[in-house]
Amino acid sequence: MQSAKGAPLEAYLAERKALIDDALERFLPGAEDGPEIIHQAVRYSLFAGGKRIRPILCLAAAEAVGGGGQDCLPCACALEMIHTYSLIHDDLPAMDNDDYRRGIATSHRVFGAGIAILAGDALLTEAFQLLSRPECTGGDMEKRLRVINLIARAAGMIGMVGGQVMDLQGEGKSVPLEILADIHRRKTGAMLTAAVVSGAILAGATAAQTAVLSRYGQDIGLAFQIADDILNVTGDSALMGKGTGSDISRGKTTFPALIGLEVSRNHLTELVAGAAAHLAGFNHRADPLRQIAGYIMDRNR
Ligand code: IPE
Ligand code: IPE
Ligand code: MG
Ligand code: MG
Repeated sequence: MQSAKGAPLEAYLAERKALIDDALERFLPGAEDGPEIIHQAVRYSLFAGGKRIRPILCLAAAEAVGGGGQDCLPCACALEMIHTYSLIHDDLPAMDNDDYRRGIATSHRVFGAGIAILAGDALLTEAFQLLSRPECTGGDMEKRLRVINLIARAAGMIGMVGGQVMDLQGEGKSVPLEILADIHRRKTGAMLTAAVVSGAILAGATAAQTAVLSRYGQDIGLAFQIADDILNVTGDSALMGKGTGSDISRGKTTFPALIGLEVSRNHLTELVAGAAAHLAGFNHRADPLRQIAGYIMDRNR
């Protein structure tokens, strides 16, 4: 599981993604029980080829504090399930109304809105079922409750759901920069931060390490959504596997719309540099986290 020092980040990401895809398959309820359509809809979105950045961050944070990433696989998979639920719901006609995600038609276009809503509900629920399992923390119940609590808070009303509410309420209105940054921190940053912090807690990080890694998570979290805003303007839809131009057409305030592309890129660069600076006290085991910060800035999908 050790990341080969100096190995290209792409190889690291591909290796971790394969590990996570494999584990997701193992941790999903078996298709022999329950209606076939819900298994199909859940697998359709989950295995459509996401980047797996949240579970990878969870494993990388564990590694940074000296843990073995494999131990975090149940938690990492739960994070990806919650993220995939958020995408299915985000794409619904009642929200962003998108037709294309992860290179394929969105869930509601294929299965209808009812099953798409339920596929999202199923993924969110199965994620917490998985988090509650003893294997999630090697039997340590206190640690398990801490992680469940922190992920629930990140996904809920003061985190991602809250951010999505603010995002919807902001449509067609001009949103000031501080509020926009708050939306981004909630709708995207909270879950990215939770991914980093949960990996750290599972690997036995000290309170000081956890606090520093949380700040790293917050910086890359906001950076990640600014990059998403930029890619919605400049990105290649085929490469990203989702539509572009939709923020403007839906009247969403974004970083590029508010401060322009160049200033947005500068802000992104500063956040990523700040994120890397938080890791100054960590040794080479934090190299994947350092590289992922750069990847978030430079990504084209
Ligand atoms: C897309 O997330 C939604 C945002 C929070 C910006 P990702 O860019 O991680 O999407 P996948 O998982 O790779 O499809
Ligand atoms: C998605 O934000 C955030 C969540 C799903 C929580 P966006 O709506 O900006 O992301 P994309 O561009 O559709 O992936
Ligand atoms: Mg949205
Ligand atoms: Mg969207």
